[in-house]
Amino acid sequence: MTTTSTTTRSIDTDAETEQYNETLQLLSEGSVHKHFDPYVDIDWESPAFAVTANDRRWILPAKTDPIGGHPWYRALPEDQQIAIGMWRQANVAKVGLQFENILIRGMMQYVFSLPNGSAEARYCTHESIEECNHTLMFQEMVNRVDADAPGMSRPMKILSPIIPLFATLLPELFFVGVLAGEEPIDHIQKGILRSGEEIHPIMQGVMAIHVAEEARHISFAHQLLRRRVPKMSRIGRFFLSLAFPITMRILCDVIVIPPKKFWQKFEIPKYVKDDLFWGTDESQHTLQDYFGDVRMLATETKMMNRAAKLMWTACGIDGKASRFRSEPDRSSSQFAA
Ligand SMILES: [Fe+2]
Ligand SMILES: [Fe+2]
Repeated sequence: MTTTSTTTRSIDTDAETEQYNETLQLLSEGSVHKHFDPYVDIDWESPAFAVTANDRRWILPAKTDPIGGHPWYRALPEDQQIAIGMWRQANVAKVGLQFENILIRGMMQYVFSLPNGSAEARYCTHESIEECNHTLMFQEMVNRVDADAPGMSRPMKILSPIIPLFATLLPELFFVGVLAGEEPIDHIQKGILRSGEEIHPIMQGVMAIHVAEEARHISFAHQLLRRRVPKMSRIGRFFLSLAFPITMRILCDVIVIPPKKFWQKFEIPKYVKDDLFWGTDESQHTLQDYFGDVRMLATETKMMNRAAKLMWTACGIDGKASRFRSEPDRSSSQFAA
């Protein structure tokens, strides 16, 4: 799985590298010409953004949030639906910014050893700046909506200082982890924006900015893996092909499933948690649907061998590969109407 510095130097001379560097140059220029500042582009003090009690727009959207669509949640009194909705949405933002914090540290670790003139170094630095802005934006939202949101579960917080080291030790695995976080968040946010369901303007504004910039980040991780994986040893690629779905599934659960505190605080019955994550056919379909794009990447980078396919199935995230990035799943409930 390792890529030696000799390999990296030889990469720098071939024609494919030129194309890769041109793509990164385009992404970097995209970052220069289209970027957001959370304290310039969001008018936090606008009355439309005020967070007030009993605002129905915090009720979780039924079509796009698994909790929001569950009959137990729908049957709750409105004030409880609002309280759960605020906590849930603030916590998703908190988990998102903690994930981005880890990603930034890893990216900086990766950039540290890149040579002068590296297109990767420039693009990764642009991306880290954008992620820093995302963490500011999400934290501002959390502070306004529910300052009680803890974010990730405790085991993940304990592991968080170790993960960035993988950017140096096993960069391919680190960038698989990057996609494991970015793809589900992006998929969920795009689903909510596309559905047109009413959400609070803070959520709308924050998500629109995030989706716009994430497209570049996801594109970069795909490009980097397409570039690096074919240059790995056969054995390294085989192990990565097995680690790929495991990483996707673990990090997806970390991001999507609320922490223990949530279930305790709102006294949510266990059967509801089991239904939502991922005990029903519908919730399993939702889970599989997050990963169409990465299944496409795994297939194209020859990491969908027989053993890997079994691992994707064992992880519960097998299914069709997308034909192109961000292909909507027409069979899911959010597009069924
Ligand atoms: Fe982000
Ligand atoms: Fe990102």
